[in-house]
Amino acid sequence: VNVAVIMVGGPTKGTRFRPLSFNLAKPLFPLAGQPMVQHPILACKKIPSLAHIYLIGFYEEKEFALYVSAISNELKVPVRYLREDKPHGSAGGLYTFRDLLMEDNPVNIFVMNCDVCCSFPLSGMLAAHLKYKGIGTLLVKKVSAESASEFGELVADAETGELLHYAEKPETFVSEWINCGVYIFTPEIFLAIENVASQRNNDATLRRISSFEALQFTTKSAQTDFVRLDQDILTPLAGKKQLYTYETGDFWEQIKTPGMSLRCSSLYLAQYRLTAPELLAKGDGVKSATFVGDVYVHPSAKIHPTAKVGPNVSISASARIGPGVRLIECIILDGVEIKENALVLHSIVGWKSIVGRWARVQGGGNYMTRLGITILGEDVQVEDEVVITNCIVLPHKTLNMSVQDEIIL
Ligand code: GDD
Repeated sequence: VNVAVIMVGGPTKGTRFRPLSFNLAKPLFPLAGQPMVQHPILACKKIPSLAHIYLIGFYEEKEFALYVSAISNELKVPVRYLREDKPHGSAGGLYTFRDLLMEDNPVNIFVMNCDVCCSFPLSGMLAAHLKYKGIGTLLVKKVSAESASEFGELVADAETGELLHYAEKPETFVSEWINCGVYIFTPEIFLAIENVASQRNNDATLRRISSFEALQFTTKSAQTDFVRLDQDILTPLAGKKQLYTYETGDFWEQIKTPGMSLRCSSLYLAQYRLTAPELLAKGDGVKSATFVGDVYVHPSAKIHPTAKVGPNVSISASARIGPGVRLIECIILDGVEIKENALVLHSIVGWKSIVGRWARVQGGGNYMTRLGITILGEDVQVEDEVVITNCIVLPHKTLNMSVQDEIIL
């Protein structure tokens, strides 16, 4: 039997995702029409004898209750949300629920970060993991030297695949190979986490004996229940024939900002061509709108036949797209109305917002920069003929003048 865990984090981690994280937990934000967390959940279908999928985080239970019951029914595999009372770090979170995770007596525990976008090649990883016979196998990818420093950098043995050296977001360059945040562990990982925690406790006791400053001791000892998978576990275990790597050549991105969610939405839409072509909109060109490239449209959305949509557009439930509207590279959320002849380009339009006639909502298209796209929060109104370029607009604003390169609070 195997189990899977998806680390969903919590609200304090979502600050870079504002204003979209005001409304719902970041893991539930739709990418290519499906909640972010659903992409790793659906990838779990590739895991043989899967007993449970657990989401571990410190969001309130109610934020995930409806979602986990719906997806459990759909998948026919129980999906449960486990709430930490406070952040314990990625390894500490796992360790908190070790008894529960071990209830099914799993041979392997698949662990995935929720905020990565990739093809989750779990079958290939499992085959490699069984061959290596280590306590853990991590998914790795080669990226450019400039971008590697944002991630865990590592060195692996080219022949055996063994993880030889690991440094989390190092200041000086280590390697172009990075940790993708997808792992398979045997239950021995809990022992490794326990060892780190008890080592720290010993250190703390030693410090208490020798320390002059009691205050310093209290802050240090408080950290013993905060253990990170990367720097606290992978770094000390590297080079000990316990951890191995599995390389992916497929797409991989991290989703920390709204701009990256737009890019990742397009990667998942492109993946649908191979995995779920039925999710891509197909127009007949006469009675339906014109679709260009990869487009997702929720069945309850209404699109006027004279609208032109795509490439890379996802349109959520109950959205209404008027006559002559042009949508390119954008995410249109639930209940949005786009009125006639408006244009939306490189943008995310928040829940129940209204874009007026002949208005333009647009971004420059550089997803890596903060203002490279336009984001309208929930219930924003862009009046007729107004042009909004490279702006982040907080919820409930009415825009009656054109603006550029601004954060509208
Ligand atoms: N449950 C829970 N509790 N989840 C957590 C906690 C916690 O206390 N802290 C972080 N997470 C979750 C996050 O939501 C995310 O899915 C994952 O664990 C990793 O988050 P961070 O620890 O903040 O690390 P990171 O995202 O900056 O970088 C990690 O992932 C990269 C790949 O995306 C590192 O492991 C990097 O080495 C790696 O390249």
